[in-house]
Amino acid sequence: MEEEPSLAKAFAQSFRVGAAVNGETVVTHETLLVRHFNSITAENAMKFASLQPLPDHYRFEEADALVDVAEEHGMAVRGHTLIWHNQTPEWVFRDQSGRLKSRREVLTTLKDHINRVVSRYRGRVYCWDVVNEAVSDGGDDLLRKSLWLETIGEDYLIEAFLAAHDADPQAQLFYNDYNECDPQKRAKICRLIRRLKSEGVPIHGMGLQAHWHLNSPGIDDIERSLNDYAELGVRLQITELDISVYNHREDPPYRQMTPSLLLQQAERYRAAFRLFKRYAEVIDSVTFWGIADDRTWLDNFPVRGRKDWPLLFDTDHRPKPAFYAIMEQA
Ligand code: XIL
Repeated sequence: MEEEPSLAKAFAQSFRVGAAVNGETVVTHETLLVRHFNSITAENAMKFASLQPLPDHYRFEEADALVDVAEEHGMAVRGHTLIWHNQTPEWVFRDQSGRLKSRREVLTTLKDHINRVVSRYRGRVYCWDVVNEAVSDGGDDLLRKSLWLETIGEDYLIEAFLAAHDADPQAQLFYNDYNECDPQKRAKICRLIRRLKSEGVPIHGMGLQAHWHLNSPGIDDIERSLNDYAELGVRLQITELDISVYNHREDPPYRQMTPSLLLQQAERYRAAFRLFKRYAEVIDSVTFWGIADDRTWLDNFPVRGRKDWPLLFDTDHRPKPAFYAIMEQA
């Protein structure tokens, strides 16, 4: 069988092309990974709960192994993620009796964790999603109600960026979020980044997760978002790209992948990459949240057990129409 050309090589002049991986998929999807990608993100292995499940117990095995794989194949590593409201253990915020800990205690944990993790990978992980998903989706509040906010206060973001910068002054530091193309949320994210920058916080980039759907967000909303974020004077990365064949929760629970869906999805990917190319001056990296459709987090989100087909390679690891549509934009 003739092999398809390499995605990462095709876009080498524009931006890196990455994939989220875990200890399993670096083995099961190795052929595709090595051929098509020149950057990786740990799907879970660098999250707080994975790295520091208990106060005095760090576990670096899986994360270390992923960084080794990347280096073996000359791939860059994005660090994901230092501070998030999910996948963070309870002990961070609560004492044995379940009471919330003090600002001082939680802040110490935040700084120690960031210092330990970022120092360990200094020079090997070139950028970090320092804070993930801190902005609220609806309503007037800028920040999401989280235990980081409740215990430390609004400056937890500033403290996180400062700690990361101290631990690795060369690392590029990102704020990362989803629903990033929604006009209201986009405005809030811009407000947050502008505020951080005006306070002299070392923040270098905005990560657009880009968990998109067949019909949303609209391509003009995507373009306006790239434009607005770029105007903040930060670098942009597409950090978790996938295009679900469902429209979030509302769709009928199950579908089959049909030729017509494959083509619709290919057109969405084509339009997205046409834009990424136009913004290549500010976009440094485009990362997919997985490699092939046999292994995607969307099989369990937002509906548990609902099969989805959001990536460029099918369940047998063959390139889909979306792959060729993207290649035409290179
Ligand atoms: C997801 C992983 O893919 C799943 O394996 C895990 O169970 C939950 O988290 N936004 C993020 C990612 O920033 O870290 C999430 O990853 C997907 C949504």
